Amino acid sequence: MAGLNKSLLRTLIYIFIINLSAFQLTYSASTEALENYVNGQKVVVFTVATNETDGFLRYRKSCEQHGVKVQVLGMHKQWVGGDLQRFPGGGQKVNLFIEAQEKYKDEPDTIVLFTDSYDVIFLGGLKEIVRKFKDLNCNLVFGAENYIWPDTSLRHSYPKVEGYRFLNSGLYIGYADYVWKALTHKPIANTADDQLFFTKLYLDDEIRKSWKMKLDNEAYVLQNLNGATQDVKVKFLNDASFLHNIKHNTLPSIVHGNGPSTLSLNLLANYLNNYWTEESGCKECDDGTFTLDNVEDEDLPKVLVAIFIEQPTPFLNQFFENILNLDYPKSKIDLFIHNNEIHHFRHVLNFTRDYKEVFRSIEYIVPAIEITEGEARQKGIEYCNVILCDYYLSIDSPSQIENSHLIRSLIEQNRTVIAPMHIKYGRLWSNFWGALNDDNYYARSQDYVSIVRRQRLGVFNVPYISSVYLIHGRILREPHMPSFLDGDRDADMNFCSDLRSRRERRKCLLNNQGDSEVDFCTNLRNRGIFMYVTNREIFGHLVNTEYFETNHLHNDMYEIYNNPKDWERLYLRPDYWDTLNEKTDIESPCPDVYRFPLVSDLYAKQMIEELNAFGEWSNGDNKDPRLNGGYENVPTRDIHMNQIGFEKQWLYLVKTYVAPIQERLYPGYYTKAFAIMNFVVRYKPEEQPFLRPHHDSSTFTLNMALNRHGIDYEGGGCRFLRYNCNITDSTVGQTLIHPGRLTHYHEGLLTTKGTRYIMVSFVDP
Ligand SMILES: *[C@@H]1O[C@H](CO)[C@@H](O)[C@H](O)[C@H]1NC(C)=O
Ligand SMILES: *[C@@H]1O[C@H](CO)[C@@H](O)[C@H](O)[C@H]1NC(C)=O
Ligand SMILES: *[C@@H]1O[C@H](CO)[C@@H](O)[C@H](O)[C@H]1NC(C)=O
Ligand SMILES: *[C@@H]1O[C@H](CO)[C@@H](O)[C@H](O)[C@H]1NC(C)=O
Repeated sequence: MAGLNKSLLRTLIYIFIINLSAFQLTYSASTEALENYVNGQKVVVFTVATNETDGFLRYRKSCEQHGVKVQVLGMHKQWVGGDLQRFPGGGQKVNLFIEAQEKYKDEPDTIVLFTDSYDVIFLGGLKEIVRKFKDLNCNLVFGAENYIWPDTSLRHSYPKVEGYRFLNSGLYIGYADYVWKALTHKPIANTADDQLFFTKLYLDDEIRKSWKMKLDNEAYVLQNLNGATQDVKVKFLNDASFLHNIKHNTLPSIVHGNGPSTLSLNLLANYLNNYWTEESGCKECDDGTFTLDNVEDEDLPKVLVAIFIEQPTPFLNQFFENILNLDYPKSKIDLFIHNNEIHHFRHVLNFTRDYKEVFRSIEYIVPAIEITEGEARQKGIEYCNVILCDYYLSIDSPSQIENSHLIRSLIEQNRTVIAPMHIKYGRLWSNFWGALNDDNYYARSQDYVSIVRRQRLGVFNVPYISSVYLIHGRILREPHMPSFLDGDRDADMNFCSDLRSRRERRKCLLNNQGDSEVDFCTNLRNRGIFMYVTNREIFGHLVNTEYFETNHLHNDMYEIYNNPKDWERLYLRPDYWDTLNEKTDIESPCPDVYRFPLVSDLYAKQMIEELNAFGEWSNGDNKDPRLNGGYENVPTRDIHMNQIGFEKQWLYLVKTYVAPIQERLYPGYYTKAFAIMNFVVRYKPEEQPFLRPHHDSSTFTLNMALNRHGIDYEGGGCRFLRYNCNITDSTVGQTLIHPGRLTHYHEGLLTTKGTRYIMVSFVDP
């Protein structure tokens, strides 16, 4: 709290005393009912808003929180005052205000406050605001900012002052007679600029002085953020949040995210007004939510789940399983699938074939149809409108949903657009951006890391989301629904479609289409629709697609280091993890030979299939061109891991999953996890059914069973001669580890029926 003086603390106390007088929701309520009184003095608050945008609802909520009654002017009227984000305009605001203000013009004791609303929030109540206004000792105060707008040539006419220098017309407060004089000092056209209108008045030295007109240069009451975002910080005290202008050491009572600073306001609003505090976390996250718990299945909203497979994606099986596992009646789910990848063609076709009766409907766009990602996403929205979906859940193939409650949770959160946070394991990569840079691309917000790491939980307004998000069907049906397509690129598209080969066309389209989700989010922001990300629950994660190889039979098996967590879930035996625990005994079937569970049945099955698809089993000769010396003393029928492109993966497995166990069993030896000989042997009666006694050229050897004794084959096993000890009952995925040379002279016992497969690795030769 260093740096905050007594008067600031006093203001804080005012902030905490929140007077929750009823806020009027109807715009036609009698104006008397919308007047406020502070110590008997009348205070009237006005805003102009034509649409109930998310920003407006946020403004209204802040009014409720601080017990401010507001007269909303122009609601649902047609707006002709121009696009205030980018161009001058706003004269209509003045004209609407004049109409409403007329009845107060002869009340010199009445205080009038005007605020914009789409990008404004109250941080304090009227008691505090009136006190501060009186401290400023003038009749009319406008908010100030660092940028001069719209007529920059007026810069030198401005008085030189400390602090924010230029007038902003989004926030002002004054006595009713002076406000009236300012509004009516001359007529203004609806399309003219209101800021210029007031600026000229202010720059008239005579009027400024005689009227006692001021700018709030230090944001004592009114804070405009444009050009001042570095000056403000959210602070927390006594389980409350407040905005501190650190440059001027003030606690503004109203904040305005004017111009491009709207985004900064959105980020601040994730904390202000006790939305989120350090002590309690997200205090307002449950505001406006509801539950589906008591809703019968047939009454649940209809959800269109739109699936986009835009690149080869590992673990697509799990992706579809996650969709099937969603705890939401399939009869309430329609599916839209865009598959852009030939590689996944069969897969998706099988899925649509197997489940078309289960879901309400399935619309499938196959890879042969050449459309861009943006066009596909746009078709998803159109399909939502065709079937009149209540919600639209977009999911890209890299998004692995881990939470079967996802659809319900997102619906219950009741936001127009909301993304469940998905991250890449162990990275700061996620499906949202905390902030934008000047080119509308990624910038890191101050809170980004703590949100991604779930140190800060809540529902946060953010400028960009992707990969998986739920959109309320309502906004998709609006006349100018937000679009994934950027019209400016039409020319490029025509150019592309003139190219001759399909390949060239495709490449051209891909290069030119930009990022359709960036376009979509830009459209949402321009329409004032807030996007939220929630990390209140763990919802899922994103897989890495960058290095995915698609030239194998079982490509997911090769993802051991690209996507280790997904890989582990599928390919390690669940009881593997117990063996890492010092307290778990590891079985020792023969002296200094240990056996532990390592890979899953699926791994073993896929490995055998992969090898047989490759098919080049060695012929069992001593001559072996695969080896450095070209000679193998104790040959087997085998395939080396490097022949199927799995050597790096296997060595990673040894280093990551075997080394910790080896160190436990043979302490003091630290493996390099290096091996040249990594291979699968097959024994069968009609080929090579056994292997004569030998030593291995290894420090230690791994010997892993890949199929089932007594079912897939009979006989077989490993015999350590020195101890007359036979191991013949290893189950799939069980792995023997034993010293290679000198003590553990061993042989492969006779396989009498079927085919026996084992994976062998000579580690640290
Ligand atoms: C307000 O709503 C109308 C009608 O829905 C729409 O035409 C207009 O573009 C909206 N204005 C803003 C600022 O969103
Ligand atoms: C859900 O959100 C809408 C729009 O913000 C709001 O009007 C409605 O009251 C909310 N529902 C509940 C149950 O709070
Ligand atoms: C698709 O289904 C067919 C027939 O049921 C099956 O043989 C094939 O392996 C499946 N393909 C994939 C990629 O799942
Ligand atoms: C191990 O197997 C060999 C070969 O089948 C057999 O001769 C020997 O008796 C077995 N040893 C034990 C202890 O069973």
